[in-house]
Amino acid sequence: MNSLNAISVKPAKELKGEIEIQGSKNTVLPIMAATLLSSGRTVIYNCPQIEDVQVMCQLLECMHVKTSRSGHVLTIDTTEASYEPLPFSLTGRLRSSILLLGPMLARWQQAELGMPGGCAIGLRPIDIHLEGFMKMNVDVRLHHDMLTCNSYHLQGCEYHLRFPSVGATENLLLAAVGAKGRTILRGAAKEPEIIELCEYLRAMGALIEGVGTDVLIIKGTDALASCDYDNVYDRIVAGTYLLMAAAVPSDLKLMGIESIHYMKNVVDTAVKLGVSVVKHKHYLHVRSAGNVPAGSFETGIYPEFPTDLQPVLLAVLLRADGSSSVTETIFENRLGIANELAKLNASIQIAGRQAVIQGREKLSGGVVRATDLRQGVALVVAGLLCQGTTIVTDIGYIQRGYEDIVRDLRCAGANLSYV
Ligand code: UD1
Repeated sequence: MNSLNAISVKPAKELKGEIEIQGSKNTVLPIMAATLLSSGRTVIYNCPQIEDVQVMCQLLECMHVKTSRSGHVLTIDTTEASYEPLPFSLTGRLRSSILLLGPMLARWQQAELGMPGGCAIGLRPIDIHLEGFMKMNVDVRLHHDMLTCNSYHLQGCEYHLRFPSVGATENLLLAAVGAKGRTILRGAAKEPEIIELCEYLRAMGALIEGVGTDVLIIKGTDALASCDYDNVYDRIVAGTYLLMAAAVPSDLKLMGIESIHYMKNVVDTAVKLGVSVVKHKHYLHVRSAGNVPAGSFETGIYPEFPTDLQPVLLAVLLRADGSSSVTETIFENRLGIANELAKLNASIQIAGRQAVIQGREKLSGGVVRATDLRQGVALVVAGLLCQGTTIVTDIGYIQRGYEDIVRDLRCAGANLSYV
């Protein structure tokens, strides 16, 4: 991982080359949490080398779990795992730290952990997680930044999530597979990451019905066994480079993509933006002339357009031939990129959850600051569209989820460097 704190981006006239798409961050983090459910050794293949995975390893190590890494292979050994509270100094660095709550309750009937952190893209409460746990007979207390949960008898329940939260669905699943009796989760999230987690838990011996639907029926068992996992590609990283290709004349191969099933909406959006996408056996061939038509877009729960790619879409629309709009429906405070893009001479008006973007303005390089993972990546993409050099600072946010965006974009012929 690079220790420099900024990326310098030069304008790109064209993008050409092959980019290897890394393993999925949002899939691997819940799988890492799931390893706590059994006693034994798990090998995770295609595990991205990113900050969030490192912090998750440190959290597991707090509970005497052994982790070791060789390239993209991560080994987790939970044989000697034993209960320990998790400090806020670590949980506060990662939103997914909250996903350890479910497995800790399933394994030890108790958990004390600091509140989760993560990107500041809205309030990001955990009320749905906690309401579900309370239904499972868990006593939940919050004191300052510490959450204390106890259950002498973790009991399956019937619970209707008021919103299909990805994290809450994962967390409740992770507890329910080890609870007594049957749990029915209604209004569950259906994201690809949930499907992967369900399939993985089934491979461990969990009994789950309704996978891929919004009603999950889980029969608890105490016979879960460790098993290895081969991680899928990161659909958000792939989507970043796919959308980026719309804004610059491109001829790119996105390698390691076996199926585009999980990113259909993103592919459709890229096509709407003038990109030709051809699926080959192990890669996507992506070409464009760099002419972006203006349009109206909206984020939504899966299978709609993912909120995580909204900032990149916004940056790409700065090249559109007219005025476009993007409506954010998932997070209430995720259009903050407009302020940073304004420093590059972009013209974006925000009204509530909608951004109106004036395309074709001449963008000029400047110094901009990453304030969260996806916003930071979108600033790098915007830098490719500017005249002159753009410096993106605070790139620690980007490194939480992208292995090496400089390496990836250099593979596409772009001129970037760490500074
Ligand atoms: C996950 C993804 C994130 C993605 C998001 C939505 C990971 C590590 N992160 O985040 O990249 O942007 O899904 O696809 O997988 N909410 C509540 N109460 C809760 C939980 C959520 O009100 O208890 C709200 C949130 O504030 C937000 C919405 O529900 O407005 C969606 O959040 P959620 O689906 O939980 O996202 P995460 O799991 O945090």
